[in-house]
Parts: sequence; structure tokens; C-alpha cells
Amino acid sequence: MINNFDDVIDRSNNFAAKWSEMDKKYGTNDLLPMWIADMDFKTAPCIIDALRDRLEQGIYGYTTRPASYNESIASWTDRRYGWKINPKWLIFSPGVIPTISILIQEMTKENDKIMIQEPVYSPFNSVVKQNKRDLVISPLIKLEDGNYVMDYEDIESKIKDVKVFILCNPHNPVGRVWTKEELKKLGDICIRHNVLVISDEIHSDIIFKNHKHIPFGSISEEFEQNSITCMAPTKTFNIAGLQTSQVILPNEEHYQILDNAFIRLDIRRNNAFSLVATEAAYNHGEDWLNEYLKYIEENMDFAIKYINENIPSLKVRKPEGTYLLWVDFSETGLSDEEVAKALVDKGKVALNSGESFGTGGKGYQRINLACPRAMVEDGLSRIKKAIMN
Ligand SMILES: Cc1ncc(COP(=O)(O)O)c(C=O)c1O
Repeated sequence: MINNFDDVIDRSNNFAAKWSEMDKKYGTNDLLPMWIADMDFKTAPCIIDALRDRLEQGIYGYTTRPASYNESIASWTDRRYGWKINPKWLIFSPGVIPTISILIQEMTKENDKIMIQEPVYSPFNSVVKQNKRDLVISPLIKLEDGNYVMDYEDIESKIKDVKVFILCNPHNPVGRVWTKEELKKLGDICIRHNVLVISDEIHSDIIFKNHKHIPFGSISEEFEQNSITCMAPTKTFNIAGLQTSQVILPNEEHYQILDNAFIRLDIRRNNAFSLVATEAAYNHGEDWLNEYLKYIEENMDFAIKYINENIPSLKVRKPEGTYLLWVDFSETGLSDEEVAKALVDKGKVALNSGESFGTGGKGYQRINLACPRAMVEDGLSRIKKAIMN
């Protein structure tokens, strides 16, 4: 291994939201943060080098994206997921959630129905409500073995008059990497009912052995035309603070709608740093990512073994992707409030409560394992202390 993911880096004085916003959320900053989805690793050296070169120029004026920028994204999308996209389908956006919010505003009207599958990343729910659209929730089904699947019957029964389906692919927090068959079944329902799919694929690079990310739009030309895909290098390379993402709009009409909205809002330029970081990541970051994926999967295996051996009242299943572990605390004999209090007061550890992910989240906690092994060990022993003593 060339990169040392074991290095523990002090982020507490670096305006890192993961550290400095605990006070607001948990009432104290005195916790080990294993909540918000960013990593405690340094990004890839190729990105740091590109940023250093850019920094040392000392001029950070307005930027222009060269053609090579979109080409680097298209090449990555082809190499990593086998989806050949035209660089002309791409639009830069500072973030996935702002994109989804603007798409909702542009492509639907007040009180139009928008469907999501809970439990899911909570802004899916809030962004629909904040835009005064009607939220339609189709809960995921949890199988006996702890795996999650989509409830197609429920989707069919609720989809009449739905305008947009927001898909989380791969899924945060349950860790599913949806298969081609699952996505096809969902996509066929959406086409039959004339429902546009916005596919949030921000976690598409964090995929474990024996699983493969299938971009929703890659399944067929019909799906490509009926979907808008949001991707980003930010989760993959730990550069969320640079605020960059890309929207893939193969449908010319969809492209024009978002392009016009962004022109109106004057959202068009990358900042000087995201410009070089994105291209460096997609052109030179693959070796780092492959090493990182091995490390994160070992973190997952380590955590699951630890939990099974040391905290048997917790139930957990290995995710297929993402660096987030979705853990069932419902057999601890404690209520959600008691679990939350014990984690903070006794364990001194910050996790995301399952309830914040909506329907089906009760009784769960989400643990972020994108951190050095020593932190994983420390965090797990804190959770044990909170629950067992
Ligand atoms: C599924 C999902 N979408 C979007 C985001 C946030 O993306 P952005 O910061 O680009 O808005 C996250 C962050 O955790 C996420 O998990």
C-alpha cells in the first residue's frame, strides 16, 4: 500500500463541519465524530499536487472549464461503470442537493407529487417539502436476512400522478448497490407512468468486491432519455469542501431546462480549486481509489466482526457500497432516545440517528467508517461502552 490510510489527522481546528458542528447537533463537541458523510483521510496525492500548483500561482480569478474537464468525467464514467456519455450532456453544479432542488423547481409545480424511498438521505425528504411539492414515500422492504429491496407493488400502487422519482443509487444509508434487474424493474414502472427519474449517484465509486455500480441511465436509451443523473468526485476523493458535481442530461429538453435555470442563477463557473481537483481526480486518481476501497472494505469487515463478537445485541449486515454502516439497535432494550443519550453521554461518540432517515429508520444508527482503523476501533469501543454498561 502506497498511501497511508492509518494516519490520524487532527481536523478539530480546521473548520471541519464533522467536528465543529457537533455542538449544535449533539450539545457538545467532546465526541468522536462518526456521523456526517465525509472522510478523515487525506485526499489523493495527485489532487493535492494539482491544488498546490494552482495555489502557488497566487491568482484565483474567474475560471473557464477547458474541454478536457468534461472529457475527464466522460472517460471516468466509461472506465469505471462502462457508460459511454457524450461530454456535451454534462452540466457543472456546485452540489447534488442544490441540483435536485433546482430540478424540482424547474420540472414540477407546487403540489406535484414526488416519490422517494425511505429510509434515505434526509435532504431527499426536506428538499421536496421545502419546495412545496407533495412527498410520496415508498418504504424499502427489509428482508429477514437484513437485506433491503424495493417494494415494486407499493411503488405501482402510489405512482399515479407522480411527476418525479428521486432514486438513491447506491443507497445511503442501507448500503445497497442496486442491480441492473432491480433498476430495470423500477425504470420500466417509471416509463409506463411517465415519471422522470433523478438518480443521485454520488456514492457510485464506493463499491465493494462482487458488486458493480450500474448507472440508471446506462441501462437503455429509453432510460437515458427519461433520467437525469447526479454524480460527483466529492465523496470518492474527500473533496466535498470544494463544492463540485456534474449533472448528466442526455435528453436535450432536460439539458436546456437546467442550463437556462443555471444561466438565470449565474451558476456556471467552477471555483479555481474544484476545476483542477476534479480533472486531477478523474485522470489520475484511480490507483488511490483502488487502495482506498480495499482499506474501507477492511474497515467494514473489522467493524462487523467487532460488533458480532462484542455487542451482540446490535444487528448488522455488510453494505455492498458506501462507507456507511447501517446498524439495528432495536434489540438493545433501549428506546431511540435512550440510545442517543447513551452514545453521547456514556460513549462520547456521534452517530446519525436512524430516525433522521425517515420511515423505517426507527431503531437504527448510521456509522461513518471512512476513517483510520484506530478511529474505527476507538468508535466501536465507545459504542460498546454506551450500550453494554
Ligand atoms: C445520497 C447523497 N446525496 C447527496 C449528498 C450531498 O451532496 P452535495 O454535498 O453535493 O449536495 C450526500 C451527502 O452525504 C448523499 O449521501
